Amino acid sequence: MYDGFTFWKKYFTAKNRDIQSGLGDEVNLNLKGWFAVAYLHELKPGAVLRRKMFGKELVVYATDEGYGVADGYCPHLGSLLSEYGRVEDNCLVCPFHSFKFDKHGDCTSSYKGKIKPKFKLNMYPNDVRHGVLLAWFGGGEPQWHILDDSPPQGYKWSKPVSMYFEDVALAPKELHENVTDHGHFSSVHLYHSIEQIEEPKFEFPIASSRFRATRPRRLLWLENMKMEILVQVNGMGYSRASIFQKGIGHLRIVVMPIPIMRGRTDARVIVQVAMRKRVPQFILNAVAYPAAFEVWKDFWQDILIWRNKIHFHKPRLVDGDGPIAKYRKWAKKFENDLTIVS
Ligand code: FES
Ligand SMILES: [Fe+2]
Repeated sequence: MYDGFTFWKKYFTAKNRDIQSGLGDEVNLNLKGWFAVAYLHELKPGAVLRRKMFGKELVVYATDEGYGVADGYCPHLGSLLSEYGRVEDNCLVCPFHSFKFDKHGDCTSSYKGKIKPKFKLNMYPNDVRHGVLLAWFGGGEPQWHILDDSPPQGYKWSKPVSMYFEDVALAPKELHENVTDHGHFSSVHLYHSIEQIEEPKFEFPIASSRFRATRPRRLLWLENMKMEILVQVNGMGYSRASIFQKGIGHLRIVVMPIPIMRGRTDARVIVQVAMRKRVPQFILNAVAYPAAFEVWKDFWQDILIWRNKIHFHKPRLVDGDGPIAKYRKWAKKFENDLTIVS
């Protein structure tokens, strides 16, 4: 339970995790699902970004036609595509021998364009939601689409406010587990009057839970907000909380864990607010920032716990814990048998 001074003191004095929390083996790198690879504001046409995820080197790039997510090393002689690689004619060009790879990963031009090699650059299917580029990992064609991001009827969204958290010290499945852990909402975030509205559902590929809670901490002029919260976990790379506050609007928080390598998970978080269509867009965009700041504080309250906790395979659950056991069983469905880590 941190608020005010205690929180800031803890935040500014929190060191990077210096106690190994035993997280290592819990980061299963053989997950399937959609995982965030970049924010669109990082991806103007011509951009080439370096990413490390699932213990692998990746390259993410933008052309005039769209986006590409590919293995980071050139299949020819292994140069690192994200360093000095470039985009030309909607293709990714390797910096070493200038071979070109199109959006399917086919090598369309090699030495003087004459000899077309048979090898391909391994590409990952990608899709965009609320200003985030996500890629499908786990092999093969995507098994589902990511949740739709259109606003509720009669509302419109603010611009997404994006955040990046390094080393959240949890495996992706534990990060999403946090939203099924009802007990910590009151203890860590000081919410109260938490009440399940309908039975949580654990279906493939979405787990959902709807509940009410009251948030006593102030947000702008609002105090004691009575919220209705719909949590949806859509695979191990994407979960979102859609929060409805009567008379005001909607708040959407999307949490996207990024498994970097064994023992290291980062997270991208998006916050957006939705209000009636008649509200000017600039007001909406301005309100999103203080809302995002509150989310940022909530997230840090959690991280301060996560960085020092350990993972129990068989936790001793009690009444009031929320549907943690059911969630864990469901989360196993996203563990891949395929070994995608070389
Ligand atoms: S290493 Fe990429 S073209 Fe040769
Ligand atoms: Fe939390």
